[in-house]
Amino acid sequence: MSEQSCAPTERGILIIGLGLIGGSLAAALKEAGFEGRIVACDRDADEVARGIDMGLIDAGSTELAPWVADSSLIVLAVPVLAMEAVLRELAPHLGDQVITDVGSTKGAIEAAVERVFGGMPPRFVPGHPIAGSEKSGVAASNPALYRRHKVILTPRADTDPDALARVRALWAACGAELLEMDVARHDQVLARTSHLPHLLAFSLVDTLARQDERLEIFRYAAGGFRDFTRIAGSDPVMWRDIFSANREAVLGALDEFEAGVARLRRAMTDNDGDAMLAVFDRASHARQYFDTLLNQTSYQAMEQRNIRYRVTPGGDVRGRIRVPGDKSISHRSIMLGALAEGVTEVHGFLEGEDSLATLQAFREMGVAIEGPHQGRVTIHGVGLHGLTAPAGPLYVGNSGTAMRLFAGLLAGQAFDTELTGDVSLNKRPMGRVADPLREMGAVIETAEGGRPPLTIRGGQALRGIRYDMPMASAQVKSCLLLAGLYAEGETRVREPAPTRDHTERMLNGFGYAVQRAADEAWLQGDGRLTASPIDVPSDISSAAFYLVAAAITPGSDLLLEHVGTNPTRIGVINILKAMGADLELLNPREVGGEPVADIRVRHAPLKGIDIPVDQVPLAIDEFPVLFIAAANAEGVTRLRGAEELRVKESDRIKAMADGLAILGVENTVHPDGIDIVGRADASDTHVAHYRGGHVDSLGDHRIAMAFAIAALRAESEIVIDDCANVATSFPGFVDLARRVGLALEEQEVS
Ligand code: S3P
Repeated sequence: MSEQSCAPTERGILIIGLGLIGGSLAAALKEAGFEGRIVACDRDADEVARGIDMGLIDAGSTELAPWVADSSLIVLAVPVLAMEAVLRELAPHLGDQVITDVGSTKGAIEAAVERVFGGMPPRFVPGHPIAGSEKSGVAASNPALYRRHKVILTPRADTDPDALARVRALWAACGAELLEMDVARHDQVLARTSHLPHLLAFSLVDTLARQDERLEIFRYAAGGFRDFTRIAGSDPVMWRDIFSANREAVLGALDEFEAGVARLRRAMTDNDGDAMLAVFDRASHARQYFDTLLNQTSYQAMEQRNIRYRVTPGGDVRGRIRVPGDKSISHRSIMLGALAEGVTEVHGFLEGEDSLATLQAFREMGVAIEGPHQGRVTIHGVGLHGLTAPAGPLYVGNSGTAMRLFAGLLAGQAFDTELTGDVSLNKRPMGRVADPLREMGAVIETAEGGRPPLTIRGGQALRGIRYDMPMASAQVKSCLLLAGLYAEGETRVREPAPTRDHTERMLNGFGYAVQRAADEAWLQGDGRLTASPIDVPSDISSAAFYLVAAAITPGSDLLLEHVGTNPTRIGVINILKAMGADLELLNPREVGGEPVADIRVRHAPLKGIDIPVDQVPLAIDEFPVLFIAAANAEGVTRLRGAEELRVKESDRIKAMADGLAILGVENTVHPDGIDIVGRADASDTHVAHYRGGHVDSLGDHRIAMAFAIAALRAESEIVIDDCANVATSFPGFVDLARRVGLALEEQEVS
C-alpha cells in the first residue's frame, strides 16, 4: 500500500450510524491526529451522547440535516437494509460531499443508491471494512479495529478519482490495507468466505439445539464445536439483513457447498476411503495455507518477501551433513506415484516450494496424498487415466521441470488444464515442449513467444513420434516420454548429449518398460504403472554448494552423506576433480534404482581448466557455484557450449558475470559461456581472493547460494539481495551453512 497513515485533510467528517463500526472509525481518526470536526447522527440519542462523552465525536444528534453542510466527507455506517431510507433523507441536503459506506453487501447498496439518485453519483465510493467483533454499540469502539485489516472499495469506471483518493486516505489513516474490486466479485467473495460460514454455523447450532430441547447436548461439546460455531452468536437481525441483501450470491455458494457435501456423502456410502482422504487432504492443506497467509509466511508471501543474506568472510567448513532430497527425483516421484496403480511410499522427499507445488497440483486433480512428514509422502495412485479436472489453473511456482513435465502428462488427459508459474517461470521458453507435443497431436496454447501460461486442451488422441531434440534437455525428453504413455505406438527421443535419466529409471522401476540404446530412449504407449517405493537421495545440486565451499577453504574437511551420484548428474564432481579438488566417493551403493555415495571433500588448491563440453549437461545446474570455484582457482577457467544457462531461473551467465565483476573477479562473457580469471596462487594461503560487495541474485536460488559460498574467500562482507527463492530448492540452506561454519546472517528487508 502506498498510502501513508497520516490524517486525512477533510474539513469535517459526518458519520451516520454511530455503532461499533462508526465509533471505531471516529476513534481511529482521532488517534491518527485528524484535526477536522467529526460529527455523527444516530437514531439513538444515547449512543450519540456516549460518543461525545468518550471524546470520539465533537457533536451530533438524531437529526442528519444540521451536519451535512459543514462536512466534506460522509460515511454511511447504518445496516444495509436501512441504507435506502437514510439516502433519501440525505439527498436534498447534499452539495459536493464525498460519500462512502461500510455495508457488507455491495450489490444491494448500489441498487439502493441507484433508486434514490437515479444512478451512481461519481462522488459515491462504496466500501467495506472487513473487521468487526461480536460486541456492538459505540461503547465497544476500538481505535485499532481496522489496523492491518482489509478494506474493500468497489469504485466504478466513472467514479471521481479525487473522491476515491479521499476515501482511500480515510481508511489508510486507520491503518487499513486497501483493495479494489468490482461489486459482483465482492459479493461472491463475501458470500463464500463470510456469509456461508455464518449460515452454516447458525444452522448447525439450531439443528442440534432443536433435537435436544434442554440443550443438554452442548455439555458434551468440546473445542471443535466451539470453534466451528463461534459466529452463531452474532447479531440475528443484522445477519437476516445480510442474507436478504446478498441472496443470489449466498444461494450460489450454498449450491457449491451442497454439491461438496453430496460428494463426501457418496464417498462415505461407498466406503471410498481414498475419495474421502483426497478431500480431507486438500482441505487440510488449504487450511494450513490460509494460516500461513494470515501469518504472512505463505508461499505467495515468500515470493513477495525480500530476503537478504549478509555473509562475513572466514569459516572453516567442517562436519558431516545431509542436504535435502533431490529436486528432480522428488517431482517425478509425485508424478509417477499419482499415475501408478497402488500406493507409493516416498522417503527423502524434498519439502521445497517447487516440489510442494507439484504435490498440491496432483491433489487438485483428485489424488490423495499424505504428508509430507519429514520427507515421507504416501501417494494413493489413481492410474494413468484416473486424474480429474482441477477447479482452476495449476500453479507450479518457480519450476521449469514441473511445467514441462506436466505439459507432457496433461496433454494426454481427457480434460483441459492451465499451467501457470511465478514471475521468473513466466519468462522461460515453453515452445521447446509445446512444439513436439503438437507434433504428437496435442493442442496447446502458450502466451506470446511460447511463454507460460500454457493452456492444454484435453481429449486429444496422441500418437508417438520420433523426436530429435535440438538441445540437451532432460525436461524435454521427460515431457515427451510422459506424453508417450498416452500415445498410440512408440515415442522415441534422441538427445544430442546425455542428460539426467531419472524419468527413464523411475518408469522402469514402476514396471513400465523404457528402452535405451546409444543416444535414444523410447517406450510404447498404453501400458500401466505399478506403485513402487522410492528413496530419494540427497540432491547433488544442493551438495555442490558445500563441495565448493570445502574445496576453496583452507582447513576444511566435510562429509556429505547419501548424495545421489547418478552418472548423468556428476559433472560437478568430474569438473572439480579436474580442477584439482580433493574429493572422495565413499561407500557407493544403489538405492531404489539410483546410485548414491557419501562424499568427503577437503581443501586443496584449485587450478583453472577448459571445462569439457561433454560435462556441460551433466553439471548444468551447478555452474553458478562452479564459477565461484573458478574465481578461487589459479588461472583461467573457460566454459563454452552452455547457452542453456541463459534460459534458467535467470540468465545465469549474465547474473554471475555481473556479481563476479562487483567482487572484482575479471571475466569475459561469451554467448554460450564465460572465461573467469582466478587470482589464487598455488600456495593458496588464507588470503582473500576477491573483495566483498553487494550483489543481486535476481531471485535465482542458485545465484544467491553461490555468492553466499563465495564469501568464504572474500576480503569483506558479501551482501546478496533477493534470496527468498532459495526455499524453492534448498529449505534449510542457511541453517546448514551456519552449521558447517559460514558466518551467514539472514535479514528480511522491507
Ligand atoms: C531438470 C533438467 C534440467 C535442469 C533442471 C532440472 C529435470 O533442465 O536444469 O534443474 O529435472 O529434468 P533442462 O532439461 O532444461 O536442461
